[in-house]
Amino acid sequence: MLLPIYTYGQPVLRKVAEDIPANTPEVQQLISDMWETLYKCGSGIGLAAPQVGESVRLFVIDLTIMEDDEHPEYKTFKRVFVNPHLVEEFGEEVTMEEGCLSIPGIGENVKRMSKVRMKYLDENFEEHEDVFEDFIARVVMHEYDHLEGHVFTDRVSVIRRQLIKSKLESIAKGKVRCGYKIKKVEKR
Ligand code: NI
Repeated sequence: MLLPIYTYGQPVLRKVAEDIPANTPEVQQLISDMWETLYKCGSGIGLAAPQVGESVRLFVIDLTIMEDDEHPEYKTFKRVFVNPHLVEEFGEEVTMEEGCLSIPGIGENVKRMSKVRMKYLDENFEEHEDVFEDFIARVVMHEYDHLEGHVFTDRVSVIRRQLIKSKLESIAKGKVRCGYKIKKVEKR
């Protein structure tokens, strides 16, 4: 089932998401719905459960559409992260532009560490502890941020944040143009 995307300003994006206690048919359905939603949204390579209104620790990443001959590992990277917990970030600080399905029309430079160690379960609830590097580390941390109630625009420089402030406010009011279905913003 295609799920609507919750955009900037929706309270669920600011909550710390809860661990999923058990593997149930509902969890498997949510994973399958999130894949379907990610692919329908076109340009996205990752989606976190809060972005579809579910405050649980789950995200999916698919980099198989990446065209990067220097990094063949991206083209085979398709993974489900259940109950991810950050162990450490290390390496060096790298700046790169990011975007987010919940913040349509905005792309900004974000500094992140080049390596990350993450504990998580896969879609079969098997435990993993892996180190991710470079672009994969960035995508993992972008999605992980969603589970902690953060979005990438929280991490841009003070000056840039000032410059995009009015755009963000428009999105929060529901003034959004994008090619996919979004959750209607409640008038406050
Ligand atoms: Ni995002």
